[in-house]
Amino acid sequence: MMTDLIESQPEEVATLIRARYSIIYIVSWEEARITLTLNNITAESEKRLIIWSTTEGFKDLSGKAVDAAATDPFAALNYIVDYSRPAVFLLKDFHPFMKDPVIIRRLRDLKEPLDKLRKSCVIVSPVLYIPTELEKTITVIDWDLPDLDILNNVLQSIVEPMRENPKVDVNLTEEQQELVLKSALGLTLVEAENVFAKSLVKAKSFNPDIIIREKEQIIKKSGILEFYQRVEKLDSIGGLDNLKNWLTKRSKGFTEKSKDYGLPAPKGVMLIGIAGCGKSLTAKAIASLWKLPLLRLDVGRLFGGIVGESERNIRKAIKIAESVSPAILWIDEIEKGFSGIRSSGQTDAGTTSRVFGTFITWLQEKEDPVFVIATANDVSQLPPELLRKGRFDEIFFVDLPSDSERTDIFRIHFEKRGRDPKKFDINALTGLTTGFSGAEIEQVIIEAMFEAFFDDREVETTDIMNAIDETVTLSRLMKDEISDLRTWATSRARYASKTEQQTERKIDIEID
Ligand SMILES: Nc1ncnc2c1ncn2[C@@H]1O[C@H](COP(=O)(O)OP(=O)(O)O)[C@@H](O)[C@H]1O
Ligand SMILES: [Mg+2]
Repeated sequence: MMTDLIESQPEEVATLIRARYSIIYIVSWEEARITLTLNNITAESEKRLIIWSTTEGFKDLSGKAVDAAATDPFAALNYIVDYSRPAVFLLKDFHPFMKDPVIIRRLRDLKEPLDKLRKSCVIVSPVLYIPTELEKTITVIDWDLPDLDILNNVLQSIVEPMRENPKVDVNLTEEQQELVLKSALGLTLVEAENVFAKSLVKAKSFNPDIIIREKEQIIKKSGILEFYQRVEKLDSIGGLDNLKNWLTKRSKGFTEKSKDYGLPAPKGVMLIGIAGCGKSLTAKAIASLWKLPLLRLDVGRLFGGIVGESERNIRKAIKIAESVSPAILWIDEIEKGFSGIRSSGQTDAGTTSRVFGTFITWLQEKEDPVFVIATANDVSQLPPELLRKGRFDEIFFVDLPSDSERTDIFRIHFEKRGRDPKKFDINALTGLTTGFSGAEIEQVIIEAMFEAFFDDREVETTDIMNAIDETVTLSRLMKDEISDLRTWATSRARYASKTEQQTERKIDIEID
């Protein structure tokens, strides 16, 4: 089925092989696609392609045994050294053996014998694992996910045999076809094939909605990224007018029109501030405002158990985000994921700092329209490199809500729970909640509603006043931290709220 696929980027591999890079490591799930690419490359240069796996030894592309006995990795490397003609050896899942010191030494010694006879080894594995000793010996290639052309090949390979089948409708207008292909972006070739087939089974046609839903499942299963539905709207955020304004002005920032106008696509924004004041809420709201897919990256989950897996995870997350772009990549509480970076050398052999390095380089150099929104509660845990110029368009400080913002937040949350805000004395409630965060205001409303509901009556202002009385706010518990954060923010960040409101702001400093 895959024989006639057009490859989008075999050039890099071809160049490396021609330049006699002796060991190339391709990080990919797509053995089939890579095998075909290598076959094209070797056919052109009159080399032989020989494929090794520990279960079957050496075989050629047609599956014919070349040396079926060499299933042992050490024997395999010896066979490669002794092989007397130009060839490319594709080693499937070789990485587990690269933990063995004997194999490591043998791989290091491979360069000269391979060079002499124009032989190369290509390791293909979904996992990037390279022991330190081999870092200079091995060249790593990150395989791209299939682009629209390749996906179209997959689609056509399903359409062709189904054309005459009366049970399904595989006819697509040009527009529908584009929609179907775009909805599969971000998947590997095999996944796309499955998703197209599944849509045919379920809907008897290619249905973009089904494809997107399947894709979301697949991406979710990868465990690092999560698709968010567009649930929150900008008007469910109380206050934060500067930030909302900034975001609104950029809502057409990813259009062709904006590009033609001479504008760069927005890169990203960092929201730093006190917990519960609407940072995550804003991230969710941008997706509806800009009508773009929202992907949440869980930095904590990047750090998998196996060595090398974390690096693979971050690359994968970046690739998926790029392939569904224009998109928003949301990294919540980024400081938690990267907090170990300073001690990374001693504690995790540098993994955290390498993952962070990959991320930050991408942030700086990315060309695809992926808008990054990162949030952080604790600046002291934040690697300072993250805040350097060129990484985010803007850094916003999200403070505790001012009087007028709290009024807004009360109104929003009353409405959200089907209550008419006019029936409450919001002025009084605003006056009583200096130092409360948005989350705490929401909480007192819920608390009061539970009370009233239990007594079998409608909730009133006094219930909320009682709940306010019972609340010990975060701003009281963390007075010093908040004060430090504010000092930090004055010189380094822009205020998410309108500046004239700053003067109204004070922390509740009563001590009881
Ligand atoms: N400015 C706000 N306007 C309306 N609701 C808010 C606001 N800030 C916080 N909330 C409420 O508190 C919840 C938690 O806030 P969140 O955005 O997660 O805070 P954080 O800044 O810690 O990310 C929100 O889902 C929302 O219900
Ligand atoms: Mg949050």
